[in-house]
Amino acid sequence: MTQSANAKSRASFSGTLGYVLATAGSAVGLGNIWRFPYLAAKYGGGIFLLIYLVFVLTFGYALLMSETSLGRMTRKSPVGAFKHFGKSRAGQFGGWINAIVPMIIVPYYCVIGGWVLRYLAAYFQGAVHSLAGDDAFTTFISNGASVELFFIIFALCTIIVILLGVQSGVERASKIMMPILVVLAFVVAIYSVTRPGAMEGVKYFLIPNLKHFSWMTIVSALGQMFYSLSCAMGILYTYGSYMKKDVSIEASNSQVEFFDTLIAVLAGLMIIPAVFAFSGSNAAENLQAGPSLMFITMPKVFDSMGFGTVIGITFFLLVFFAALTSSISLAESCVSTFEDELHMSRLGSSVLVGVIILGLGTLSSLGFNALSNITILGMDFLDFFDFLSNSVMMPIAAIATCVLILKKVTLDGLAAEVTACGKPFKRRKVYNFIMKYLAIAFIAVILVSSVLNAFGVIHI
Ligand code: PHE
Repeated sequence: MTQSANAKSRASFSGTLGYVLATAGSAVGLGNIWRFPYLAAKYGGGIFLLIYLVFVLTFGYALLMSETSLGRMTRKSPVGAFKHFGKSRAGQFGGWINAIVPMIIVPYYCVIGGWVLRYLAAYFQGAVHSLAGDDAFTTFISNGASVELFFIIFALCTIIVILLGVQSGVERASKIMMPILVVLAFVVAIYSVTRPGAMEGVKYFLIPNLKHFSWMTIVSALGQMFYSLSCAMGILYTYGSYMKKDVSIEASNSQVEFFDTLIAVLAGLMIIPAVFAFSGSNAAENLQAGPSLMFITMPKVFDSMGFGTVIGITFFLLVFFAALTSSISLAESCVSTFEDELHMSRLGSSVLVGVIILGLGTLSSLGFNALSNITILGMDFLDFFDFLSNSVMMPIAAIATCVLILKKVTLDGLAAEVTACGKPFKRRKVYNFIMKYLAIAFIAVILVSSVLNAFGVIHI
């Protein structure tokens, strides 16, 4: 939005549905389909799922409520919202850390978006069988030129949409694509879990087993909760600021939580049982695959089904759309921060965001080939940016939001905003308890332990 438009009247969503669709469009993305299953596979299966669900219903809920309410109260994105309550250095820091996170995420998000595009293109060429080969992913990822090319195409799609401002077109498309995605996810999940041998995977994913628990289960589940709900990165401040006063913040956020979690669980059911059914003796190793998991298992599933090419195309097309709507909202939030705070033009800030994406994204995409001998704290570039944003910056951003509420806004002030729609704040006691006693201390412990772990001081 331009400065002058901002001053006149802030754009707003049409109502509950508008907010829920836009927020769910931003929330449902690669985080649900690509990131959640590989973390669940790697960090404990059922016990990861259980802890994740607890986080979504407690801290996740509290953060969704906090950020949306602050956005609607101040009618500003994060930097402005923090400034609204005072110009202290700590406040400025709080605003900026929320605003900078998407700038770290969007470049590597586009790299994964590029992988999705490359698979989509390969299905169009009828490569359903060769993609299912054991080394297909490794071969692709070690080809720097091809990874970079598809990354650039995905990044250009994002930037062009931002520049043209045809967000409404994409939103309309995603209103059609999202329901298809849900249906397809059900179909593929049912197919996956009914394969011979898949039950082991279903059990691993759904039944908590303390044997698989480690401190990393908690660290990664918390990071994933932020990531998937689009919390702790300024997006919800901005979306809250577009929300009308008569819309119930609580009811709409509950819907977002439900939808986002549903898609993540379905993706887990598509991917994890398939590891057991199709990887044979490699199952244990593949559970640890990390970011490549979806690209290794899904092609094996499609290769074994009838109409594999058509289903492969549909699947990657839908993932592409889910990823694009999310990457647009990430990029849009960066662009609007530059516009509002650095007083740049829309064109100028879009170009700047494009340059950031190309620069940092190229490091991530070449981190698996040309630059694979460079690691930071033992991580390749993509893992490092993911760690930096999810395990370090987002916890700090979340703590900043909690401090702002406790110190400046007060819990009563926040409740007043939540009830401005005329409906009661149902989970107010839970919210207050989490904010007062749990959130800051708990997030801080996790932040410190994950940083110490990365520096090799402790091993978790
Ligand atoms: N929540 C998105 C996902 O799950 C990622 C995202 C975060 C998108 C923040 C926009 C803003 O993929």
